[in-house]
Order: sequence, then C-alpha cells, then structure tokens
Amino acid sequence: MTPSRFTPPLSRFSFLWALILSCLALAACQGTEPSSTASPTPTVSPSSSLTSLANGDQAYGHVLALAEDIGSRPAGSDPERQAAQYISHHLATYGYQTQVQQFRLAYYVEQSPTLEVLGPAPPTLNPRPLRLSTGGEVTAELVPTGLGRPQDFPPEGLKGRIALIERGELSFSDKVTNATAAGAAAVVIYNNVEGSLRGDLQEESTIPALSLSQAEGRHLQALLEEGPLTVHLSAQSGQETRTSQNVIGRPPQDDCQVIVGAHYDSVAAGPGANDNASGSATLLEIARVLDLSGQEQGVCFVAFGAEEPGLFGSRHFVTTLTPQDQPSPRAMVNLDMVGVGSEWQLMGSPGLIEKIDQAAAALGLDPVPTSRHLSGDHLSFMDAGIPAILIHRFEDPRYHTESDRAEFVEPQLLEEAAKLTLLALAELASP
Ligand code: BES
Ligand code: ZN
Repeated sequence: MTPSRFTPPLSRFSFLWALILSCLALAACQGTEPSSTASPTPTVSPSSSLTSLANGDQAYGHVLALAEDIGSRPAGSDPERQAAQYISHHLATYGYQTQVQQFRLAYYVEQSPTLEVLGPAPPTLNPRPLRLSTGGEVTAELVPTGLGRPQDFPPEGLKGRIALIERGELSFSDKVTNATAAGAAAVVIYNNVEGSLRGDLQEESTIPALSLSQAEGRHLQALLEEGPLTVHLSAQSGQETRTSQNVIGRPPQDDCQVIVGAHYDSVAAGPGANDNASGSATLLEIARVLDLSGQEQGVCFVAFGAEEPGLFGSRHFVTTLTPQDQPSPRAMVNLDMVGVGSEWQLMGSPGLIEKIDQAAAALGLDPVPTSRHLSGDHLSFMDAGIPAILIHRFEDPRYHTESDRAEFVEPQLLEEAAKLTLLALAELASP
C-alpha cells in the first residue's frame, strides 16, 4: 500500500455524508413538527434507505462459509489463507480494489515435554513447558534451589545441573534468568498452590524451563532429602515463524479516511463463528451495502489475520500507514464478536463512542461501555494515535471453545451491527 492512498479527499467524502446527515436531521425533525406544517410527502432519508439495505441473512452466509465450510482458522494456517481468499474475492466482487498484505509472526505451539527421574520406582511426572521456553535435551542432577533467588543457589553455582525451584516471590522469567546466570542447564518450577502450573516467560529462554504441579514438586523435594537424583529432561521449542495476511479493500481511486476492520483468524480450539467470523461477515455486508448505494468513498475495509496470537495483523497494518508526512485515517471501527450476547458494548476513543452512541440512538439501540478491558485490533490503531472503537456484543459463553459454532450466531445481530456501523460511518464523517 502506498502512503499517498491515505490522503483524505475531504470534499467528496464530506459531501456524501453531509447529504446523509442532513436527511437524518430532516427525518428527526419531522417527528417534532406540528401536523399542520408537516410535509405531506414522506421524505425517504438516504440514511434509512442505506441501512435498510443491510441484510443479516446475507451476512450469515459468510459466517457459514468461514466457520463451517473453512472451519478453524489459526494464524498462519492454510484455512486462514483460504478465509483470506474468500474475503478478498467478495470485496473484489463488490468492486473494491483488493490487496493481500503478507507479514511474518512468531507463533507459539504448546509442546509436550518429558521429565523422568532415573533410578528405581520413578514417579510419573506431567511437566508443561513455560510459554516461550526453548527446547533441549538434558540428563543431569536435580538440585533444590528454593525460590530461585541468587542466595538460594549453592556457592559453587549450578554448573550444568537442573534447578528445582518453587513458584513465588520472583517472576518466572527472573527465576529462569537467575538459574541461567548460575550455570543451570534447565529449570523446573513447581506450583506453590494446589494444582498444575501454566506460566509465561517474557522472552524466549536460553535453557529449557518446565513447570510441575505442587504435588509433583513436593514429591521431588522429598526424594531429594533422601539422596541425589538424576533426571532426564526433553523439551521442544514451541516457537515457529509463520506467515499470515491482511486483506485490504479500498474504493477504486480513493483513500482510506475511515477503516472498518475485523479479524478473521480464530483460535485453534474451535471454528471461531462469533470470534470472529461474525465481524468479518458484517464487514463484507457493509462493503456490499456501500457499494450498492454508491457511497463507499473514503471507507476502506481491512480483514486482519493473526489477531489471536497477539494483534499481529493490525500491528503490521498500522506500520504500513504511518508515513511521517501524511495524515492517517481519521477513525477505525473494529467489529469483533457481534453475533452472540445480550447487549451492545463499546470500547475505545471517547469522541468515537459519543458519535456511535448517537448513531445507535437513531436505531433505537442503547450500547453500554465495555464491562472489562478487551484486547483487540482497535488497540493497534489507538496505540498509533488513530481514534478507534470496538463494537461488540456481550457476553459469549462459548468464547474460544470448540462450541463457537455458526448455529449460535444470530443473523439479526449481524444486521444490527451492519446498520450501526453504517450510521456510525455517517456520524464519523461529520466534524
Ligand atoms: N475477540 C476477542 C476480543 C473480544 C472479546 C472482543 C470479547 C469482544 C468481546 C479477541 O479475539 C481475543 O480473544 N482477545 C484476547 C487477547 C488477544 C490478544 C489474544 C483477549 O481479549 O483476552
Ligand atoms: Zn479471540
């Protein structure tokens, strides 16, 4: 994408939306006018005709295609690429210029490490990798090292041995860094409360780092009190470099003043019908309606890849549109999880929330502020200084599970989301 495509041709964009807005205002005024002065001819507002074009069943067809026909779409996978092709094809059919923008990402796949005590009657251990642990194969003595503080290590250091550390006081990363500095070949951290332990490192370790449950850790501590233990540890790095892609649709010969975005990847665990085939489907429906009505100027569509492993697609996209000397898009609307739940919620830039509240009121909807902080692609834009808003529905009990299937997505909600966004686009065009 060339930076110059993001220069706003204000006049054309403003003209079209000013027309829509003035008609909205006219429609609103009609209800308050005394009947004697009311116009005898009903005024059809282009705005309401625009929203009436939005069709939930049409959008639902895309949910079926993405979540049922293609299925689970983890970042960097073949199904994710198929979904990108699907979206690109439809945007092209509606007359948009499309671009598939590739990028690389570090993807983490949880592996199953092993830890065996060598000797008679070894306990059964079910270690887990700490997220971002490197891989490796080590056979060495296991040494009890308290909480993993420097003062917990033997004075001679760890010298190729494996540190057994209890959870607590320090972060997992600090424990691993301390043990590495003391010469350890690997680290095993066990829980300080009942149950197994799932932990994250802040960056990839240089030695393998595994976790155990509290019971497993205590059992090893008891064995160590009886005498030295040699263990064999085997772990693989879960880090992979993958390629994903954003799909961009822009009106021919036009620029992106407002971006409508939605991520189309899913978690590996399920087909991601609500998270987020629902938002992607609604994006396509909005693109169709704007094309039909000839009012697509200034509005671009971006379907983001690789949101689930950490907003990779939107983070990449914003780096491609922040040339120092060009104005950026003035707003981004993120549609994420719009097909399930009992109420509309909004999160993001206060100015945009106000405008979307106005649009919602015109539709008889009453969105509330998002009830907890949600991470999503709108944050990539806000971090880059571009006002952005998340439109979503609360709450989905099947979030990130294998049951996030199309049968639970309500076409009527997709239609509401499309209408809300279409009206919001009109609001966003006003100063
Ligand atoms: N779609 C969700 C975010 C979301 C949740 C939007 C609920 C609307 C309602 C997104 O895909 C997600 O799962 N985000 C994660 C963080 C992400 C970086 C993995 C989250 O919010 O915890
Ligand atoms: Zn998600």
